[in-house]
Amino acid sequence: MEGATKPLCQSPGCSIQVSRIMRPDDANIAGNVHGGTILKMIEEAGVIISTRHCNRQNEERCVAVLARVERTDFLSPMSIGDVAHVSAEITYTSKHSVEVQVNVMAENILKGAKRLTNRATLWYVALSLENVDKVVEVPSIQYTSPEQQEEGKKRYEAQKLDRLETKQRSEDIILPVISVDRQSKEPYTVGYSQSSLIHLVGPSDCALHKFVQGGVTMKLMDEVAGIVAARHCKTNIVTASVDAINFHQKIQKGSVITVSGRMTFTSNKSMEIEVFVDIDHVMESPKGKTPAATAFFTYVSLDKEGKALPIPMLKTETEDEKRRFEEGRNRYLHTKAKRMAQVQKGHCLPIHE
Ligand code: COA
Repeated sequence: MEGATKPLCQSPGCSIQVSRIMRPDDANIAGNVHGGTILKMIEEAGVIISTRHCNRQNEERCVAVLARVERTDFLSPMSIGDVAHVSAEITYTSKHSVEVQVNVMAENILKGAKRLTNRATLWYVALSLENVDKVVEVPSIQYTSPEQQEEGKKRYEAQKLDRLETKQRSEDIILPVISVDRQSKEPYTVGYSQSSLIHLVGPSDCALHKFVQGGVTMKLMDEVAGIVAARHCKTNIVTASVDAINFHQKIQKGSVITVSGRMTFTSNKSMEIEVFVDIDHVMESPKGKTPAATAFFTYVSLDKEGKALPIPMLKTETEDEKRRFEEGRNRYLHTKAKRMAQVQKGHCLPIHE
């Protein structure tokens, strides 16, 4: 597998590579490949490999659904005309979940140059096709060494702990903002850039069953975060990273989803946007709305040479906004310290500050 060191799994069919050329309809307004398109490609590779694996030994036909994506950094932009090579490998299995690690390389086929643009870790859970509310056991993979299995177990335990810690936050909701009189709002406030997008889940959003593919939701989330970021700074913006996302609910075809984003924090050269996805079960009234996912996206603004521009500071007005700003600052300082440590260890990750 390109971009990876050694394969971690010895079972057959544990890795795949999918390649495709990036087209103009994959572009964001700045002309680079949309961050959401990359997230969608990553998830497609993940769902193929995990669904295939889960059906390898199971009598009961099942489909793997995206339960979680670990924090993902966008290491360098991808251009239209580049060939994206998405490599996915199953690296750990618990009783009911599959860890997939994905690398994305961008190849300039005119110059023959390749670079790593993304690394992501996704967790899938297998659901029975007969009864989609039933979680199915996952066949174990064959590890190349006991140490690799041990490392995988540590990652699994760590994400379980993180899920418990972030459960509280996911119960917070924001009301969708469909029509805002922005002229009455002060620029750089949370209310000024807060935005929502409403989407009717159609057949093209679903692949293996009648529920939305995780990558489709991530793309919509990235789109809303991008609108909030652009409204705030009014310059060219790009996705720098996405914090871990947990997908709590399946989203059925025919549902209406509201994806809402609000700015929580700005550093000198980055912005953090919190995104919420709510499901409105229109066919099943009076069920009302249920939260499906939340995440923090970090955006930076780039000039024509690709250099990060200063970001206008977010003006917080309410006590809640001030609290969220402080929480955002803590996350920012924490991930920045982690990145610095990785850079010192020789792993090259971008610094957006
Ligand atoms: N991240 C990683 N693993 C998760 C998870 C998450 N957010 N939520 C549950 N799991 C794992 C558990 O660890 C468990 O595995 P284990 O027994 O090996 O530890 C397994 O899933 C089943 O857990 P359980 O508590 O029985 O299931 P649940 O009722 O929490 O349901 C999902 C889990 C993922 C099936 C459910 O949350 C769901 O349907 N989510 C939406 C999936 C989807 O449609 N994704 C695309 C959305 S756009």
